[in-house]
Amino acid sequence: MIIAVDGPTASGKGTIAKAIAAHFGLPHLDTGLLYRAVGRQVHINGGDPDNADDALAATRFPDELLTDDILRSEETGGLASRVSIHPSVRQALFERQRAFAEQAGGAVLDGRDIGTVIAPEADVKLFITASVEARAMRRWLEMTGREIDIPLMEIEQDIVARDQRDITRKDAPLKAAPDAVVIDTTKLDKEQAIAAAIAAVEERRADR
Ligand code: DC
Repeated sequence: MIIAVDGPTASGKGTIAKAIAAHFGLPHLDTGLLYRAVGRQVHINGGDPDNADDALAATRFPDELLTDDILRSEETGGLASRVSIHPSVRQALFERQRAFAEQAGGAVLDGRDIGTVIAPEADVKLFITASVEARAMRRWLEMTGREIDIPLMEIEQDIVARDQRDITRKDAPLKAAPDAVVIDTTKLDKEQAIAAAIAAVEERRADR
């Protein structure tokens, strides 16, 4: 069983994907981490994330980078969004994601284009959304919890800019697959969002 979980930044898709993977006993790949590693590697190389050659060179990042805490920063998220525009970068990361999706027994992948490009044959596709305000507030609470002092407005602006870039890019833009179940988590807490996602997976599975 392949489960695709897509959605914008801070929608809750990562938390949901992890919980679904644990619930159904499936391995989980956070594909945003791959783009984040590329963004970080461009920075380490002293390259320009908007330059396709620099971004492509950075896809040869060392695996150790994937566990570096710095990948979780807002700055790296912004770099990831910029390198993800280049088709050559998306192509370079494609096989790795495909191989993960194809492993025997199934997998859960979360990202922006899992249900549309990476695994269009996925058994279940979820598209997780929430209002910009709700997503900004969650990110702000999370950062405040890590003692990072940043104005809510600034986070909101970053989210809007990132959405805009992810939705309008030509290659594999962020969008719900026509057969995706859309879950709006604006008014749901974490447990409710996870429960809604598990119920959607079970319902889809029963249909098959
Ligand atoms: O999910 P995330 O915030 O960690 O992703 C960071 C950026 O990586 C996101 O803004 C766009 C890019 N990305 C992508 O283009 N395709 C994916 N499947 C996952 C992430």
